[in-house]
Amino acid sequence: MKFRSSLFLLPLAVLALKNSAKAQSVIIPIETANNALVLEANNNHDVNTVYFGPKLADSKEYNHIAPAVGKDNDYTGQMASVYTPAGSRNLLEPAIAVTHADGNQSLDLKYVSHKVDKVSDDVSLLTLVLKDNVYNTEVTLYYKSYFKDDVIEQWSTIRNGEKGTLVLNKFASANLYLKAGSFYLTQYHGDWAKEMRPETSQLTHGIKTLDSKLGTRADLFQPPVFMVSMDKPATEDEGTVMYGSIEWSGNYRTDLELDPENNLRVISGINNYASAYQLKAGESFTTPPFLSVLSRNGKGDASRKLQHWARNYKLLDGNGNRLTLLNNWESTYFDFDETKLAALLKDTKKLGVDMFLLDDGWFGNKYPRNGDHSGLGDWQETKTKLPNGIASLVKGATDNGVKFGIWVEPEMVNPKSELYEKHPDWVIKQPKRDEYYFRNQLVLDLANPAVQDFVFGILDGLFTKNPDLAYIKWDCNAVIYNAYSAYLKKDQSQFYVDYMRGLYKVLSRIRAKYPKVPMMLCSGGGGRVDYNALQYFTEFWPSDNTDPLERVFIQWEYSYFYPAISSSNHVTDWSKLPVKYRVDVASMGKLGFDIVISKLPENDLKFVQDAVKNFNGFKDIVWHGDQYRLLDPRENPVASVAYVNEAKTSAVMFNYLVNYRYDEGSKAPIRLKGLDPAKQYKIKETNLYPGTKSGINENQIYSGDFLMKIGINPHVNSGRSSVVLMIEAV
Ligand code: GLA
Repeated sequence: MKFRSSLFLLPLAVLALKNSAKAQSVIIPIETANNALVLEANNNHDVNTVYFGPKLADSKEYNHIAPAVGKDNDYTGQMASVYTPAGSRNLLEPAIAVTHADGNQSLDLKYVSHKVDKVSDDVSLLTLVLKDNVYNTEVTLYYKSYFKDDVIEQWSTIRNGEKGTLVLNKFASANLYLKAGSFYLTQYHGDWAKEMRPETSQLTHGIKTLDSKLGTRADLFQPPVFMVSMDKPATEDEGTVMYGSIEWSGNYRTDLELDPENNLRVISGINNYASAYQLKAGESFTTPPFLSVLSRNGKGDASRKLQHWARNYKLLDGNGNRLTLLNNWESTYFDFDETKLAALLKDTKKLGVDMFLLDDGWFGNKYPRNGDHSGLGDWQETKTKLPNGIASLVKGATDNGVKFGIWVEPEMVNPKSELYEKHPDWVIKQPKRDEYYFRNQLVLDLANPAVQDFVFGILDGLFTKNPDLAYIKWDCNAVIYNAYSAYLKKDQSQFYVDYMRGLYKVLSRIRAKYPKVPMMLCSGGGGRVDYNALQYFTEFWPSDNTDPLERVFIQWEYSYFYPAISSSNHVTDWSKLPVKYRVDVASMGKLGFDIVISKLPENDLKFVQDAVKNFNGFKDIVWHGDQYRLLDPRENPVASVAYVNEAKTSAVMFNYLVNYRYDEGSKAPIRLKGLDPAKQYKIKETNLYPGTKSGINENQIYSGDFLMKIGINPHVNSGRSSVVLMIEAV
């Protein structure tokens, strides 16, 4: 008891000192439309977070927050640090840990200066410089705030001003500090075909870590996105919630530490696992951004802000268009030739979609890619399958009035390939250990600039030879085992970081030369999607699982973080559910098909042809409108999602039966959201299967007020398991 109270005196003494020198503290508020993140450089020159919450009407009052809230029993003066340095006073999880050239492991970062630059009407950049007083180590923190969307991206640059090498043992992007009565973490787990399974739990004291160590991708088991609700779990429309995600496509680590004073410290960045990074004298290391969005109006509001931000600022061509397509993967797998493809090009036209996408299996001659055991790495057309090459297929597509796209997996290699024979040193593997495979393949060493050139050359070669090539599906079906780069020699601990930087270099080069060609980010599932990769890609592949019932759940969870326009949804034969259900679910994003059109029964064919036309009519609302999740499939027998255009004149509402027990269905009206209460609307059912009639009265006029307070019953039941309604202002 005595011990504790004597310790308790220490912060009070410090506090008194601070109050006497109060004039010296610098308040640094970062304001967005609704929120403020307030930092303070105190008289001790420590920079702490004093507040992250709804902004105050009078910004001068940010000065009063710290005294009003009172001080925690913080013996370190660093629990609320904006970038907690290890090895000096800190006792909790650090954001940065270093080893100086002389072997010393201490760091203490003090305020030097800050400035705010206005990037545009909407975007501001705060630059905050911190420096150690003993060692010449400088850290610059960046906070890029997007006013309208309440989004903040933050990252850091660490500069080694010493004469020798500085080793970065930990180098986070963000170190947030949240105050609330309690915190509820929603995290995701999964595996191949089981992506985005949510789990919500109250955070207890100590550290909860979300991380991955897969090398090529952030996610297979655990994506980098998460939510933290404050005081109670947020619902769609209520509660305070922060979404966060590191923007990094490789190993990441997010620590959520409920500290002894019941505040939540969120420290997120590249995973420092096996990744101590060496900075030579004068060098700098810039971390990837961590993004967050904070809302007091529930998960729906937070996700609409994030989606809006993504379309405007991050996702490639986020406000543009996308190509509907027919893919041949599940209809042919590796077994195709020119004759089969010619027929598929005709089917593409018949279906009415924009493009044909040729999948895996078109390359390799010494070791043709007739299965997933061989050929990967040898990017020449297989002569026996395609004697006239890709060029003749592109031409065939053009002759049919459709575009042509192609699958590549350029970072990978099968041991059974000419590439592997020629360049064993380009392959990631341990020199003295047995090779270990993921889908019979290994990963190329993108830390090596020669490999970067090779990967860039694959894409560049395809575009140069086929200027009309309209689309790339960029796959990544392996993780990194036996991490070892022959190129990095003794610097193996830089490998994971340098691999990802190498990949980004290649993608930047591709985008410099081919700025807008649409590319899908695929990873045998949704394992690669994150906001760093999405600046180079127009869309991602959420899961190999295309069973529409599964997809209702998977797409629902992804939609909290990513806009519909980025979600590649293909209609396949994974499920026995009616083709209408499959098409309706796939229409909540970027519609594609991977079924055998020539084998469709007459009515199914008629249905899909009409559905493609209908989709072209409403895709603008889905792609560029606001999304409202109306009924959660985890809590109801029916799932319901609506998209509303910006003018609130058009909406499309998707409704699905997700519980097939006796007599389940929509028993009551479902309340719409996001309409204009003062507008009058008419409702019409679309995507009706040939020969069926809608029970919806198309002539009835409803006010937006009525539709949002009372709602409309789509009459979903086992005979109408999927219902799409168009809501148009009159
Ligand atoms: C991955 C993709 C599939 C398909 C195959 C091809 O599994 O997710 O869509 O492209 O690779 O091998």
